[in-house]
Amino acid sequence: MIREVLRMGDERLLRRASEVERFGTPELAALLQDMRDTMAQLNGAGLAAPQIGVGLRVVIFGVKANARYPDAEEVPDTVLINPQLQPLTQDLEEDWEGCLSVPGMRGWVPRWSRLRYAGWDDQGRRLERSVSGFHARVVQHECDHLDGILYPMRIRELSKFGFNDALFPDAQLPPEQ
Ligand code: NI
Repeated sequence: MIREVLRMGDERLLRRASEVERFGTPELAALLQDMRDTMAQLNGAGLAAPQIGVGLRVVIFGVKANARYPDAEEVPDTVLINPQLQPLTQDLEEDWEGCLSVPGMRGWVPRWSRLRYAGWDDQGRRLERSVSGFHARVVQHECDHLDGILYPMRIRELSKFGFNDALFPDAQLPPEQ
């Protein structure tokens, strides 16, 4: 079922989400189906459960090759629960980022360029990956949602935060997440 995505200003986006304690349940499956339906409807690159008002540490993300975004790297469709992130470098990389909870805007956001992430899938199977680039950026953005952090809070130069059509009159932008 497609759910409403909360927008910045809603205080539910600012809370720390709780750990999932039971895997493989019908409730978790239903949550993930709603998240997939909602993300697909909005052509998003990722979605965190708090964005649909569910305070659990569950994120999904994935980006397929898409003619609209020829520069976007592919990211495998992933369900990540109770995630842990560990930077593999202290190097920060800045790039444009958008969020389904801040629709129609982009900001220039610093993120670790390489990191290892670990967590569990919906059946409680362990997942561990080392990633870089756009994949690393998407994971950091989604996991920030679990700690009540929205990307505008990380922008260092607020002159690089604005509306898509004003910032990039002609460009095709990577998807929101
Ligand atoms: Ni977001």
